[in-house]
Amino acid sequence: MKAVICTKYGTPEVLQIQEVSKPLPNDNQILVKIIATAVNSGDVRLRSLDVKGFLKVIMRLVLGISRPRKPILGIVFSGIVESKGNKVSKFKVGDKVFGMTGFKFGTYSEYIAVNQNSNVLEMPKNATYEEAAAIIFGGQTAIHFLNKAKIAKKLNQKILIIGATGSVGTAAIQIAKHHNANITAVCSSNGHKLVSELGVKNIVLYDKEDFTSWADKFDIIFDAVGKSNKNLCKNLLNENGVYKSVSSGYASETIQKLQLLKELFEKGEFKATIDKTFPMDKIADAHRYVDTGRKKGNVVLKISQ
Ligand SMILES: NC(=O)c1ccc[n+]([C@@H]2O[C@H](COP(=O)([O-])OP(=O)(O)OC[C@H]3O[C@@H](n4cnc5c(N)ncnc54)[C@H](OP(=O)(O)O)[C@@H]3O)[C@@H](O)[C@H]2O)c1
Repeated sequence: MKAVICTKYGTPEVLQIQEVSKPLPNDNQILVKIIATAVNSGDVRLRSLDVKGFLKVIMRLVLGISRPRKPILGIVFSGIVESKGNKVSKFKVGDKVFGMTGFKFGTYSEYIAVNQNSNVLEMPKNATYEEAAAIIFGGQTAIHFLNKAKIAKKLNQKILIIGATGSVGTAAIQIAKHHNANITAVCSSNGHKLVSELGVKNIVLYDKEDFTSWADKFDIIFDAVGKSNKNLCKNLLNENGVYKSVSSGYASETIQKLQLLKELFEKGEFKATIDKTFPMDKIADAHRYVDTGRKKGNVVLKISQ
């Protein structure tokens, strides 16, 4: 089968399509023919090892010294169950599934074998493969941090979402809306149209206005791009206000979050925001685009038709 191999850490050109062996599912695994995956901010950071100082040493030790030990990057997938192990009861051949592999990576590939009890579910009934692949990364991250901020504690909480146009930001808007929050979003002039299409009325353009000098107060501030810090935003928080940023802590992936995304997508409460779709052989172009840090929502990588 074909897979994108990260031959070493570096620029997008280090990604090369190679022939590798097709995985054989064990008794508890399903073999998924991947139709779509997504190129996320985390993927490009891993490929380029774009971290500073001592963290770079730690990352090399954990992930691989000169190249990722797991050289097939990609952590989300949507596709079709092609075969299954003897003990698999949750899925049948032909099921359309979507899921997240996390630190196991491996989704820039024509096939992947995943455990039936891992972070995999049948796709939302109304989703295309592209949509299913696009909603996972930002969705799981936004749910994680908004849960930490106790978004469900009461209705109509006032929330400021900084960086509202990325994968995490567009998801955060929709999860906050699901909790009936009163949303103010911070984005650039280029992002205004998208944020307004996602139903946000209070929009602050960071390239026109300094939101940190506002007199307005919020119950929750969520920085979905990690460009602020708590000190910078302290005057914007209510007395018991909570500040959360994607820069603090790891958003663990869980089946409960995937289930919530599936349900919200089926109810029409969560939509996939897809900026561009690239075919597998344009993987370097896809990474180059995500490297800009300017994508709006998500970038899909189409593995198969
Ligand atoms: N902690 C975790 O577990 C975890 C999980 C996932 C992601 N993350 C981190 O979360 C961050 C966001 O991820 P992502 O996938 O959503 O990134 P992304 O999609 O690449 O975000 C890009 C978006 O951010 C906007 N942006 C750039 N600079 C901005 C600024 N100063 N203020 C407001 N918006 C700005 C860009 O639009 P404009 O340029 O037009 O403003 C663009 O739409 C990344 O740093 C990623 O590493 C952390």
